[in-house]
Parts: sequence; structure tokens; C-alpha cells
Amino acid sequence: MTPLVITPGRSLRGVLRVPGDKSISHRAAILGAIARGTTRIFGYLQAEDTLSTLGCLRALGVSIQEQGSALEIRGGALREPDQVLDVGNSGTTLRLLAGVLAGQGFHSVLTGDASIRRRPMDRVADPLRRMGARISGRQGGRLAPLAIAGGGLRGIAYRSPVASAQVKSAVLLAGLFAEGETSVAEPSQSRDHTERMLGAFGVEVAREGLTTRLRGPAALNATEVRVPGDLSSAAFLLVAAALVPGSELAVTDVGLNPTRTGVLDILGMMGATLDVRDRREEGGEPVGTVAIRAGRLRGAVIGGPLIPRAIDELPVLAVAASLAEGETVICDAAELRVKESDRVEALARELGRLGAAVDARPDGLVIRGGRRLSGGRVSSGGDHRIAMALAVAGLCADGPVTIDDPACIETSFPGFAQVLRGATGG
Ligand code: S3P
Repeated sequence: MTPLVITPGRSLRGVLRVPGDKSISHRAAILGAIARGTTRIFGYLQAEDTLSTLGCLRALGVSIQEQGSALEIRGGALREPDQVLDVGNSGTTLRLLAGVLAGQGFHSVLTGDASIRRRPMDRVADPLRRMGARISGRQGGRLAPLAIAGGGLRGIAYRSPVASAQVKSAVLLAGLFAEGETSVAEPSQSRDHTERMLGAFGVEVAREGLTTRLRGPAALNATEVRVPGDLSSAAFLLVAAALVPGSELAVTDVGLNPTRTGVLDILGMMGATLDVRDRREEGGEPVGTVAIRAGRLRGAVIGGPLIPRAIDELPVLAVAASLAEGETVICDAAELRVKESDRVEALARELGRLGAAVDARPDGLVIRGGRRLSGGRVSSGGDHRIAMALAVAGLCADGPVTIDDPACIETSFPGFAQVLRGATGG
């Protein structure tokens, strides 16, 4: 695969949109698959991760078709797959489907690529076992491939040790097939797309503080879902525009769910000039336009409840911090180490290659900003968000940055390089 070469210097200008939200797309397909009737999804993200979800659902007997600009999912009972379900690189697919499959009275096996097979799956397997599913996996049931013999579930009151929407969603999805109440309490608010969307599919979900409850067995009714642009994808362009002098950029029709907007709060804390306008609600999700102008940024302390609200944006924020005045501390972010790659180590290593002063800590990073970045050769390590964060670094460097292994960008943001080229007038 040819590397991605980013040449520095040109400002980002204009008004653009980004592809559909990955988290919402996965959920729309999965809920559509278990709902009664035909669900129509507009703006479904056509990227590797969300296509993996469709592949798994098809293997479970779900009929999925493109009809004009919509994706039509004919939901109903799932059937035992006659092949292993391959989620590719997608942790959301594996963990959310594990919840659904725990509720099915058949045998299934979930696996994925090398990165997926390294990531912790006990965080979903443990609560699903407590609900009555039989789940085995490598290393004492902690790693994929996971084999699931589901059915006969009972609701549980689960206290999740991590603020993870994937864990919360897996337990709630299993709860749809369980007898009685299922509740999940999380230590800090994680993204709530599942809860919102279950409401749109007609399931009553009660929320009180950090606890979410539903009562099973619950039936879902098909609906129409409009997927907003992915703020996590927009974040690369917004941060780039904040950093490259002369930039002025607006991203329209982008999701603004408050459980996801930590990146905007952090950019504000760092002194960025940004404006959120045209706010509205579409299908239960807040949407709007984010406009940003280049300016000087300063370091910030990023920790606590901000972390789950900005977890996927921390790589690109680390690039912003490298160029900001003063020190940035990212703490309470040990979760960064169990993403598509160990993002703490990847950022310290790869940004270090460009001359940034980034120190890895067990739960985050300490970044001494204010240095110039040099050109150089770096690697994504197969992680899409590292690849795109390094591309943003390349726009701000003194010379070209060559990024090895950029194909992973396709997992979440197909067309990223073209969008970047368009915004920089190249
Ligand atoms: C996601 C939740 C987050 C996030 C991931 C997508 C989701 O992961 O990092 O990219 O769609 O539920 P965790 O639930 O592991 O925090």
C-alpha cells in the first residue's frame, strides 16, 4: 500500500460535510435487524467498520438492501450463522453483537483482525455470562474469537467498572431478550446513542443519573433513522483548521450529542475560536454546524468526565497540544491503551518522530507544546485515528510527512485524503 504524503502549509477553507456517524450507523443497523418491520437508514456510513456490521447481520439471516439513498433492513428473528462472524477491525460490532447474540438460542462465533483479537472482551463477556449466556474465548474467555451459546437470559443490575458505551450497549441489548429488568450504572457518562435510538424503536428506557434501565423481553418496531455527520471524523478537519494559519472552516450537519462534544469543549479551553450554529434535533440526536478559525492555542488539563466525551478525539487533540503554548496533561485516559492500537504509546512514539515532546503515562500523556514539528516518516500502526492525527500533524510541520500504512483510514473515514485536499484547495 502506498504511503500517504502530507505537504504542509496550505490553510483549510470552505464549508463541508463529513460521512455519517459510525456509532449511530452501527446501532441503526443492529436495532433494525432485531426490530419488527423494515427500517430505513439515511446517511449510513459506508466505511469498513460499518460494512462489517452489515456483513455479520447478513450472515445472521438479515436482508439488507440499498434503496435509493436509504439502506433498508428487514428485521425479525435472527438465525444461527453457518460461518464465523468476522467484525474486521470493529470493536463496536463485536461488543454490541455479543449482547444481541447472548440473547439468541443458538451458537455463534465472533472474531476479527489482529487488533480485535488483542482487545479486552471480558468487559462484555463477564456481564453477559452473569445474565446466563455461555461465552468462551481465548485466554480464559477474555479474548476473541468468542463463542456464544445464548438464550434463557435474566436481567441484572450491572455496575460497569469502565465508562464504555460498548459495554453499556452490550448489556442493554442483551436485556432486550432477558426476563425482568436490566440496568447498567457507569462511572462516568459515555455516549448514549443506544439509549436514544432504543426510544425511537419504541422501547421504554429509563435514565437516572448514570444508570440506565429497561425491561425485557422488549419488542422493537422498525423506524426511519437519519445519521448525522460524524463529529469524530470532523474533529480532524476542525483541529487542522484551528492550527493552520489563515484557515476558516465550517462543518455542517454534524452530530452534536453532548456525550460526544468533549472535543469542542477542549478546543474552547485551549483558546480556539469556534462557533456552533444551526442547532437542531434530528431523529433524537442533536445536529448542527461547527465553524472554526485558526488562532493561537494554549495547553490544557484534560481528564475526568471529559475523557469519555472526547475519547476518540484525543489523538488529534494531542497534535493540537504539541503545537499549543505550554503543557497539556491528558489523564484518566487508560482506555486509550486498549483502542484499535495502544494510542498512548503510538502518539508518544510517532509524534516524537516529528520532534514533538510527548511522554507516555499509564493513564495518558504529558505534552510539552510550543515546538515546531519537522517533516518525517511515521506509521499509523494500522489505527485509523492515529493515521488521520498524523496527517493533521503533517499539515503543520516544516516539511512533508509520509504516513505508512494509511489504508486503515477506510475503517471510519473513506475519502479523508480527498476531503483534506479539497479543503486545502489542492
Ligand atoms: C463507541 C464507543 C467508544 C469509542 C468507539 C465507539 C461506540 O468505545 O471509543 O470508537 O460506538 O459505542 P468504548 O465503549 O470502548 O469506550
